[in-house]
Amino acid sequence: SDNINRIIDHKLFSEDDIHNMCVRLGKQLTQDYAGKKPLVVGALKGAIFFLTDLTRQMDVDEEMDFLDVSSYGNSMKSSGTVKLISDMATDVKGRDVLIVEDVVDTGLTLKFMKDLIGGRGAKSVKCCALLNKEVNRTVDVDVDYYGSKVGNEFVVGYGLDFMNYFRNIPYVGVLKPEIIKEFNNK
Ligand code: PRP
Ligand code: MN
Ligand code: MG
Repeated sequence: SDNINRIIDHKLFSEDDIHNMCVRLGKQLTQDYAGKKPLVVGALKGAIFFLTDLTRQMDVDEEMDFLDVSSYGNSMKSSGTVKLISDMATDVKGRDVLIVEDVVDTGLTLKFMKDLIGGRGAKSVKCCALLNKEVNRTVDVDVDYYGSKVGNEFVVGYGLDFMNYFRNIPYVGVLKPEIIKEFNNK
């Protein structure tokens, strides 16, 4: 579309690419969580698109809940601290928890969530992320499952935002530098 072409420099992962990642990960998770009744925890807001597609490829009895956490706010860089904006209601004690993320970057957000959930007595805490930006990792945390590694480009779409915009682009693409300038001048 005209508006997307204005925003995206190039496509990194197409809708087909993403679908294939969901199918592959869904099969793996179906095997690994067979008979376990996992609690799937989505990290708002970025993970919602991936969570809805991934969980529909998981053939297990699963519950869902959401944690609203934020480290970037409207900035391009991690603030270095993670804020819990809104907690989940489900008791995680004794549960097999699978955190779903759109991207793990520095790892701060994932570490925060794993420590929070582990500290509340979950039986296991793992993470499935669409993208693993391993090159930016500053804290030691396992991304147990992921769709693809990604380099240090500023990617948007399929849940990933720039200043809370562009989450609704149906694929993952690299943002044009001039769009960053345009929004920063507003
Ligand atoms: C983004 C992204 C991950 C996190 C990854 O969330 O969705 O949750 O940052 O970065 P990190 O590994 O450096 O912590 P953000 O804080 O932008 O909130 P959002 O999901 O609402 O966009
Ligand atoms: Mn997020
Ligand atoms: Mg964000």
